[in-house]
Amino acid sequence: MESGAVVLTGSNCSLSSLQLGDTRSATPQPLMSNLAVLGLQWGDEGKGKLIDLAAEHYDIVVRCQGGNNAGHTVRVGEEVYKLSLVPSGILRSEKTAVVGNGVVINPEALLHEIDSLRAAGVSIEKNLLISNRAHLVFPYHPMLERSSESTPGKRKIGTTSRGIGPCYEDKVARRGIRVAELLSTELFPQRFRSIAEEKFSVAEALGVAEQWDVEGALQLYQGYAERLRPFVADTGKFLNDSIRQGKRVLFEGAQATMLDIDFGTYPYLTSSNASAGGLCTGSGVSPRLLHEIVGVSKAYATRVGEGPFATELHGPGGDALRESGGEYGTVTGRPRRCGWFDIPLLRYAHSINHLSSLFVTKIDVLDYLETIPVCVGYRYRGSPLDWMPAISEEYAEVEPVYKEMPGWDRPTSGITDFDRLPRAAKDYIAFLEDSLDVEIGGVSTGPEREQTIIRQGSVLEAVVSA
Ligand code: GDP
Ligand code: IMO
Ligand code: MG
Repeated sequence: MESGAVVLTGSNCSLSSLQLGDTRSATPQPLMSNLAVLGLQWGDEGKGKLIDLAAEHYDIVVRCQGGNNAGHTVRVGEEVYKLSLVPSGILRSEKTAVVGNGVVINPEALLHEIDSLRAAGVSIEKNLLISNRAHLVFPYHPMLERSSESTPGKRKIGTTSRGIGPCYEDKVARRGIRVAELLSTELFPQRFRSIAEEKFSVAEALGVAEQWDVEGALQLYQGYAERLRPFVADTGKFLNDSIRQGKRVLFEGAQATMLDIDFGTYPYLTSSNASAGGLCTGSGVSPRLLHEIVGVSKAYATRVGEGPFATELHGPGGDALRESGGEYGTVTGRPRRCGWFDIPLLRYAHSINHLSSLFVTKIDVLDYLETIPVCVGYRYRGSPLDWMPAISEEYAEVEPVYKEMPGWDRPTSGITDFDRLPRAAKDYIAFLEDSLDVEIGGVSTGPEREQTIIRQGSVLEAVVSA
């Protein structure tokens, strides 16, 4: 399919400064107020890049779930920012970045991130808000996670070891401690002492107890409380008041649909709702106010940690894709498992999130390939399977059916005009678009802000322009 393109020019990448190519449809879509950006695979799709790009046109950027298991790398010129708990919108000084109630916060990690951003000259003081309802990660969370991840005979998930799962466990079991309680000099000491003693006994019984001093940890967290206090607010109220005043909100997804606690490859996933529903519960904003949802997918697939991955490429082929894509985890540095684009998986993710548009990243990573397999269907025990099985053990047995697409003979890296992509690359995008029945509104051709194609007339163009 031939389509138009928008060329990102200047370093600030203002879409008002874009040159327009041929159009897919002459009239831009109506612009709605609020936008969500979500990962569709197993994370690391390049959400941070699109959020940073789109943030220019929104007043507020809010993170809704996950914690410092997320790692979003954003490149702005020579600078490389690695964000984990702070929303990627923080890089634009006039925006408000909100850490919503659905996020689990390790205060030490958050303060470290704040300090690093300050040191890099990023304005924080008036730009960051932290929900008083967000739950906190304490030292016993990673300690207990080590037990579940290292006990022989127990199912290992390959987590990021940040205590995210145990913290969400406590939240759901109604024994968590939230930011508001941390700030209460009256409530916090008593609550922390009783929970910490209980956790320590559990850790001892499991044989994973480490030497730690409850009173020392209490004082440490009281210190964190004073540093965080200026940023803490009822962020649900702030977001709803702001929307009422006509402000536009960008919802920042972390992790991705296949890591979603309900819809992902259970139990090999994270402990929050990383698909569209989690954005509402994690921010306090009604689904009626979530207007457009843009999904982000790589032009191939990756996964970190354990769990089934139907199109995984083992051996030298997988190594070559990893090297071409620089596929090493931002948080843990682990090599990412690599494989081919999976149409049934993307159809499933599209169905759950009801996407307005799809942004395909890292097309340049495929430049070296002569042919590119794309998974167009699954077979399970000899029969075709057209939907994602609920059981991971079944999904692990699925055999992908591939269509070989021709590669392209020249680099796509840095191309900003869709029409300038090699013919075979345009065909590749058109094939994905037709197979998924959702517009591919943009294609990323490199890590930089300006290495981006936004297709004219697309919903994506409408939501990332003023
Ligand atoms: P996120 O977790 O979804 O925000 O993604 P990550 O930041 O963890 O991983 C994506 C990586 O790919 C980052 O290092 C980005 O700088 C990089 N990246 C994003 N888009 C592109 C692209 O189009 N081409 C290339 N080569 N790298 C990209
Ligand atoms: P972003 O936002 C990729 C994976 C871990 C592990 C599983 C559970 O950067 O896309 P957890 O520590 O959450 O209990 O680990 O989920 N995982 C991610 N993989 N990107 C992420 O975030 C991830 N966050 C968690 O590798 O397999
Ligand atoms: Mg990441």
